[in-house]
Amino acid sequence: MAGSLPVKGCPGRKIAPSILSADPLEIAGSIKRLEGEHDWIHLDIMDGHFVPNLSYGPSLVEACRKKWPEAVLDVHLMVEKPENFIEPFAAAGSTIITVHQEATVHLHRTLQRIVDLGCTPGVTLNPGTPVELLKPVLPLVGLVLVMSVNPGFGGQKFVSAVLEKVRLLCCWREAHGYEYLLEVDGGLGPENSALVSSAGCDVLVAGSAIFNSPDPAGVIREMRAKALEGTGCDGYSKNS
Ligand code: DX5
Ligand code: ZN
Repeated sequence: MAGSLPVKGCPGRKIAPSILSADPLEIAGSIKRLEGEHDWIHLDIMDGHFVPNLSYGPSLVEACRKKWPEAVLDVHLMVEKPENFIEPFAAAGSTIITVHQEATVHLHRTLQRIVDLGCTPGVTLNPGTPVELLKPVLPLVGLVLVMSVNPGFGGQKFVSAVLEKVRLLCCWREAHGYEYLLEVDGGLGPENSALVSSAGCDVLVAGSAIFNSPDPAGVIREMRAKALEGTGCDGYSKNS
């Protein structure tokens, strides 16, 4: 079972701005400048071990939940042993909690714990990790996040080789009737939104393209328009 899915039944392509690229002293102001164009808020949690960078803890999720009670808070845990952090991030008000396949020995148990705590479970993998490793947990998750950069920093170049994984996940979803949404994270902007959408991506994460722009709301509108041009699931047969 795919957990409670507040994200289900929303047609079209979604844009999830990553506040990693927002001014840390002005996060609320940066969200306000999005003029409500965003669908989700993507929060990148880094521990300095799984990735070579540090970012936020549950207190930021809690503050976001308090300020935006209805927001979909899309929490991406780039931490070792994420099982140790599920409870505080669920209690803080996360909507979706996504863990890396590479970071936990007991992936299935960790995802089940996310379900038990009332959040939508997401699973993700680095660009160098084979997508086949996710097969056993696909019936359980509400979100599969395909990393299109090596995690740890905003502003990196999109790794196009991961599009094959998106296509496969899109086909497997169709073939097996799975319910997960497909999200892509890293190096996205208006220029490649149609490309990832054509491969099957439902949710586009973008940090620097949005928050480094003088018109962040305009970038979201542009990304969504381009994404809606994408055909979805453009490759592979159902037998892949
Ligand atoms: C990378 C993070 C991404 C990143 C996206 O570790 O998971 O969410 O902040 O930033 P851009 O869009 O600048 O690649
Ligand atoms: Zn992320």
